Amino acid sequence: MDWNVTDLIPLEAYREKRKNSPVEPVYYEDHVGVTGWRLFGYEEVKLAFTRHDLFSSQNPEPSEDPIESSILRTDPPKHRQLRMLVSKAFTPKIIEAMETSIRSLTEELFDRAEASGQMEVMSELASPLPISVIARMLGVPSEDFNRFKVWSEDLVGNNGERFQNCQQEMSVYFKTIADERRLHPQDDLITRLVQAQVDDEKLTELELIGFCILLLVAGNETTTNLIASSFLCLDSMPEVRAELLADRSLIPVALEEVFRYYSPVQLTYRTVKQDMELNGHQLRAGEPVFLHIGSANHDESVFEQPEVFNLHRNPNPHVGLGSGIHYCLGAQLARLEARVVLETLLERFPNFKIDHSAPLERIESNMMFGLKGLQVVLARD
Ligand code: HEM
Repeated sequence: MDWNVTDLIPLEAYREKRKNSPVEPVYYEDHVGVTGWRLFGYEEVKLAFTRHDLFSSQNPEPSEDPIESSILRTDPPKHRQLRMLVSKAFTPKIIEAMETSIRSLTEELFDRAEASGQMEVMSELASPLPISVIARMLGVPSEDFNRFKVWSEDLVGNNGERFQNCQQEMSVYFKTIADERRLHPQDDLITRLVQAQVDDEKLTELELIGFCILLLVAGNETTTNLIASSFLCLDSMPEVRAELLADRSLIPVALEEVFRYYSPVQLTYRTVKQDMELNGHQLRAGEPVFLHIGSANHDESVFEQPEVFNLHRNPNPHVGLGSGIHYCLGAQLARLEARVVLETLLERFPNFKIDHSAPLERIESNMMFGLKGLQVVLARD
């Protein structure tokens, strides 16, 4: 069965929106049922990311939801303080040191599938890898990995009730571990978070739990989808696969183009901080703004022939990992995991093929681009 990227992501609809107006008022209906503005142009999305003085990340309504108290939902000066605390756990040195364990985990996942000659990429590789990496990093027992999987799916899905319930379940779960680490510190991220201190302040309990939950949302489904999308690219573009096989050092630049082309995070949001004008539209303080990352990354005014996956695109200023003060904290980790997967795949199964007999279906999420399943044949020759 043949498929095309435009069947999966509404590139044509995005193009129309950018042509008509890169800023569009919307009457938005989802589980929150709010009205707001949508930004489709690169310049507008970039502006909303970088001008945190105009576009707030904070929830306008006070909330006891841990995720609403996480770093992603704060503005300066609070954001600076939280970012300094949590950055200590994501230094380049700490991330680089994880390469060996990520590689052996990846090898192990391919080993398990090898005998059958087939792999369902989502459930057998792209999902368990980032979940295990985060779970190990946080320091939670491996027997809880399956619970993590269910939670991280519920957090990005469109089911409002599951979204609420799983936050409660996770709060209880992380509180128990954090309490335990205060008494018995270990060499793990939760211990570092309970101990971390900036300007004489520690993370509050809600902030700590919010951060752990955020890592699951921000770090799992996203990396899963990046990995699966890079399989899509190699399968559908033999010339790209051939170039990478000839020169593995191109894998990191190929991944940057996957970030742009398939944008695992399609959408994020802000709130207008003060009345302002944007492209002739009057935006009022308190109105929600949706940043269409997936559209910005295909904006023809910045990316020449955006519909072409160009391994040699240089520069490639995609906003797939955000921009400005909230730029993805896990960017290096996501890049590392995906690079190790592609290196291992090309080394062991250079002629892998996607099974095109099944249709490719998108997960039900407005925020993320990802697939429900991806069956491949693991061919060496
Ligand atoms: C922030 C994308 C992987 C942790 C962000 C933002 C984007 C993003 C777009 C900015 C959101 C905004 O400003 O509204 C991605 C993608 C990933 C990925 C596409 C993988 C393909 C990860 C990983 C982790 C992580 C592996 C951690 C283990 C975070 C955190 C933030 C963030 C903590 C909030 C930073 C802040 O508010 O200062 N990510 N991410 N992400 N990401 Fe990622």
